[in-house]
Amino acid sequence: MSEGYSTANTPTHHESNPEWLAYDERYIWHPYTQMQLVSRAIGVERGEGAYLYLADGRRALDGISSWWVTLHGHVHPKIAAAIAEQAAKLEQVIFAGFTHEPAARLAQKLVAIMPAGLDKVFFSDDGSTAVEVSIKMCLQFWRHRGESRTEILALEHAYHGDTFGAMAVSARSPFTAPFDELLFQVERLPFPSPPSQWEAGFSDAETTFLDALLEAGKRQTAAAFIYEPLLLGSGGMLTWRPRVLQEALAIAKHYKILTIADEVLTGFGRTGTMFASEQAEGNPDLMTLSKGITGGFLPMGMTLATSEIFNAFLSNDRKRTLFHGHSYTGNPISAAAAVASLEIFEEEPVFERINAIARSHSALGPTLARKHNLQFRQIGTVAAFEPQKSAGYLSTKSLEWGKRALDQGLLVRPLGDTIYLLPPYATTPEDLEFAYATIDQVLSQTA
Ligand SMILES: Cc1ncc(COP(=O)(O)O)c(C=O)c1O
Repeated sequence: MSEGYSTANTPTHHESNPEWLAYDERYIWHPYTQMQLVSRAIGVERGEGAYLYLADGRRALDGISSWWVTLHGHVHPKIAAAIAEQAAKLEQVIFAGFTHEPAARLAQKLVAIMPAGLDKVFFSDDGSTAVEVSIKMCLQFWRHRGESRTEILALEHAYHGDTFGAMAVSARSPFTAPFDELLFQVERLPFPSPPSQWEAGFSDAETTFLDALLEAGKRQTAAAFIYEPLLLGSGGMLTWRPRVLQEALAIAKHYKILTIADEVLTGFGRTGTMFASEQAEGNPDLMTLSKGITGGFLPMGMTLATSEIFNAFLSNDRKRTLFHGHSYTGNPISAAAAVASLEIFEEEPVFERINAIARSHSALGPTLARKHNLQFRQIGTVAAFEPQKSAGYLSTKSLEWGKRALDQGLLVRPLGDTIYLLPPYATTPEDLEFAYATIDQVLSQTA
């Protein structure tokens, strides 16, 4: 990808909507969409770099990496070529007892850049299934060890996915409300909000969180602690500090609580380091990955575990197998895309792009926040703006702001009244100036 990969922000001519959009309206039930309020989906014809080209001829800067997946940029030619090549060679094969070069190479490449100790790789299909696998690994690990540890610890405001186990460890919210009675109980740890200003020690919230973890540890019933390291995405782009994570890892280790770093969102550079976990000393026992793993081209989930966990499943007794797998587990085309994405990290100045995005946020974010009386949070390539008093996820601001921004050429999808930018790495400082100016206008128009 050359530096000129992202295109200039000039509008294209308008065309009429294609006829296939009527089929969508008639037949498709869209995710996370109240179909009575948003009846017509917006057609997208193609993507390039940081931009999407809409079916009506407009162009939009993708401010949210198409649900946090697009990593380098849309239609990166190297990944597109790797997919085409692999599709013509081996598109899919059963992964129980069989394997292939893209999966093996991907595992080798990932383990080489992982926090130490995470050296066994289990494939699945998406973030939710990667989380399901991690929970099952922990619970079954303790069963094999003969210890009755069945409790899972998870953070307030957490989000780990939409399947039942992933919902159970996620915060109770409008997403889970219809199912709450059926979700297994977890021990909910208070969110360690950072201090509002510089403080020498831990904030009250941080201390309360660490104390709760310590008390849970003393009970010796906790199987695992699952957390989104340093950035809680769906919970409202909430950030927490590496020093607190570090302390938590130390407590968990002391009390033999397995730690699951859910890096489905934070993996692959989003927080400024390859994995958010790198910013704290101490390593998790498991890590979940998805979203950006294939550069954002194809679905793939992955759960990494230590050899200690893996070894606890080794036995001549077949009942001690990890009975989990999906039809497309380890799909060769997804794996080839993921290998190509990791090669882009090796061949192109990806971290320079990441740092440039972070610098733009730091330069532009505080001014915007002051002007509109918002709280500003930033970690790496992610910046968020929240009203002093938030109305939560169901705030209707989300729909209105999203529509107005798109009308001006920016795709954002606020979490309620928290507006955020999480752009692909092809996004230039000029693109971000445009994004900030657009958000400024939208907020001014709706104030
Ligand atoms: C931290 C985290 N874990 C898990 C998931 C679930 O991933 P998926 O939507 O691919 O199932 C998400 C999705 O947003 C996430 O942010």
